[in-house]
Amino acid sequence: MNYIGRKYSLLEFLEDGITSFVDRNATRLFDVFAGTGTVGWHFKRLGYTVTANDIQYYAYCLNRAFVGLNRPPAFTRLREVMGLGSARRGPAEVLEAVNAIRSRRGFIFKNYCPGGSSTPKRFYFSDRNGQRCDGIRTQLEAWRDEGVLTEGEYYYLMASLIVAMDRVANTASVYAAYLKRLKSTARKDFVLNPVPVSAGTGRHPVHHRNGSELVSRIPCDILYMDPPYNQRQYCTNYHVLETIAAYDRPRLSGVTGLRPYDEQRSDFCVKVKALGALNTMVGRARARYVFLSYNSEGLMSRREILGVLGSYGKVDVKTKRYPRFRADADGANRNYKADSVTEYLFRLNKE
Ligand SMILES: C[S@@+](CC[C@H](N)C(=O)[O-])C[C@H]1O[C@@H](n2cnc3c(N)ncnc32)[C@H](O)[C@@H]1O
Repeated sequence: MNYIGRKYSLLEFLEDGITSFVDRNATRLFDVFAGTGTVGWHFKRLGYTVTANDIQYYAYCLNRAFVGLNRPPAFTRLREVMGLGSARRGPAEVLEAVNAIRSRRGFIFKNYCPGGSSTPKRFYFSDRNGQRCDGIRTQLEAWRDEGVLTEGEYYYLMASLIVAMDRVANTASVYAAYLKRLKSTARKDFVLNPVPVSAGTGRHPVHHRNGSELVSRIPCDILYMDPPYNQRQYCTNYHVLETIAAYDRPRLSGVTGLRPYDEQRSDFCVKVKALGALNTMVGRARARYVFLSYNSEGLMSRREILGVLGSYGKVDVKTKRYPRFRADADGANRNYKADSVTEYLFRLNKE
């Protein structure tokens, strides 16, 4: 998924930075701002016991599948109900059946598609994709209620749907706006594909909470923090994915159809609150080691962060420069600060 702040291209940097700093007995990692689950997914494969958390519900769904599951689910009951073959054939056959579920004119179509009934008309998805999403979303709830899907199976299909819908969204990148005409990828039918679960054993719990409140309840060896860097809130940038995941028919407002989001605002997106939020979280952490990913263009400066972390123990910082992602060329409304950004990994030994 093309998610702001996703750490996919920095996994090697994080793996080196973290494993070279901790002792051998540090095996429990808590990814408190988990987003797409990419970091937890990677460290689980390395043998760590991972706990994941995010304040957004779509992120919770992704993490339940990518990190929470140890293998693709069997879909035993669903196979019986749909007359499909044995679980040995893997989830592809199940996904094919889900892809063929009948369309419905539901909340997603009515509110986010050009043929819907919202004022103004919104262009987040093609009419066909909106109706297919409503059909699948409604069926998943029914199957869950009837006990046809286990919890793991439900979240596996939810994760696949969220990724598939994001791929056909008619946006430039985030859901803060939609394009006025359907672009070519948005005109294609979405397809649910198998989800790459992180193979493993044991329990890897996933939470959907404000990390500041949760952190004092999760004993771990390693707390990994990857908070938002700037004032752009994830709850507004990804509000459409949140509604697809929650399917709670919220009251939408404004041209872009924002759902209520007061409970999901992050203090890390507010300049005057970010340092205080960092201090609270690190103070409450029940971890021996704390790692913070941040970059040189964030709301908090390197010096300020070192000041806060330094009051809890020995701290250092690893850096990596990478070329800036440019959504468009410099112009009257856009002037990027520099051609490259420095990624930071702050490392604190809290013992
Ligand atoms: C930079 S992204 C994390 C990206 C993630 N490491 C990845 O690779 O996909 C920051 C995440 O923090 C979440 N978030 C922001 N404030 C939060 C809070 N107070 N508690 C928990 N999650 C929060 C956002 O929803 C977002 O998914």
